[in-house]
Amino acid sequence: SLQSLLSSMLASVPDAMIVIDEHGIVMAFSSAAEKMFGYKAADIAGKNVSVLMTHRDEDHHNRYIRNYLDTGVAHIIGIGRIVEAKLADGSTIPVELKIGEADISGRKIFTGYIRDVTDQQAQQHKLSQLQ
Ligand code: HEM
Repeated sequence: SLQSLLSSMLASVPDAMIVIDEHGIVMAFSSAAEKMFGYKAADIAGKNVSVLMTHRDEDHHNRYIRNYLDTGVAHIIGIGRIVEAKLADGSTIPVELKIGEADISGRKIFTGYIRDVTDQQAQQHKLSQLQ
């Protein structure tokens, strides 16, 4: 199945990557994402990607995706954004989110690349204190 193909691909990519369907349901979760978030791929597959967010975005994420599918207007796809990610232990970290999209056998899927930018933000904070 598409699901198992995607899962085997994401087992070996070095980055934290998540594949969702057009309803925000997680289809694949990379090994690096498992390490970053502290969830096993098997636990997160089939859940809504919004479980990885804070309340601010959690309740709205389905609408964000719906709006994009209805209007074609993207706010993150092709742009990227720093967002707040929520880990399994409940703590939050700033991450850089990049989103791609693909049509596979008549289904739209979205690929999310996530990079922890905690260190980068700490550096910037130090720099701004020196100025
Ligand atoms: C849109 C937050 C993860 C797929 C958005 C928007 C926000 C957001 C705020 C709406 C932007 C706007 O309308 O101004 C987050 C947060 C995440 C996260 C906090 C933390 C984990 C993901 C992941 C994927 C994804 C992992 C895909 C695998 C999408 C899609 C859209 C969207 C398809 C609509 C298209 C777009 O606006 O470019 N997200 N997101 N999101 N997100 Fe997420």
